[in-house]
Amino acid sequence: MIVFYAKYVLLLDFKPPIEDYKQNKNNMEVIDFNKQNSILNQFIAEIRDVNIQKDQLRFRRNLERIGEIMALEVSKKLNYVTKEVTTPLGSTTINVPEEDIVLGTVFRAGLPLHQGFHNYFDHCENAFVSAYRKYLDEVNFDVHIEYMASPKLDGKTLILVDPMLATGNSLYLAYRALLLKGTPAKVHLCSVIAAQAGVDYVCKMFPQESTTLWCAAVDPELNSHAYIIPGLGDAGDLCFGEK
Ligand code: URA
Repeated sequence: MIVFYAKYVLLLDFKPPIEDYKQNKNNMEVIDFNKQNSILNQFIAEIRDVNIQKDQLRFRRNLERIGEIMALEVSKKLNYVTKEVTTPLGSTTINVPEEDIVLGTVFRAGLPLHQGFHNYFDHCENAFVSAYRKYLDEVNFDVHIEYMASPKLDGKTLILVDPMLATGNSLYLAYRALLLKGTPAKVHLCSVIAAQAGVDYVCKMFPQESTTLWCAAVDPELNSHAYIIPGLGDAGDLCFGEK
């Protein structure tokens, strides 16, 4: 077990990467979908709404739909290559993504969002990381990473999805765990609801040149339990029931 910054714990055979992430300045590309109107807002409204979010099936499906929309937007940033396609009546050319994509997800709340991305990036490889909060008392907790399954990442495009970006620590520890499988050429971090503190943390800790952060909404605060305010509550519980 390696203690990783005073409060956060990574339970993996972990070697720090060579880069010094503390060198990063806050000029990473951050895309906040909330700044423009689209049907995405309807899905965000429903997952936040205390009366609608209780319907687990709808909650999961809304996260999946948000993942589908985000996947389309992320796809616009990829590199494309021209491909010839033969139809029954002739042939044509079309640009298709050329990047090798690995879609990574943080258990467990990330699963419906992962499914949404996977519906569109159906040719991608997949990676999974478990991160959970182990409470030391009512307020203080460590983030534990205990499980990671990923293909090789060197030179690939990592799309790492986690619906709630609160402090940013789970996402960062998940990323550090994934680096055991190589260094991706590009990283797209996709969260549905982010806290400003989480956005700031990600901008500080991830490699700025190769990372883009996508958020469907950015909320102002965290409460003393590091839940996002106004947020939506516990995304994992809303997806799959209380622990
Ligand atoms: N995880 C959640 O599910 N909700 C939050 O507000 C923060 C982290």
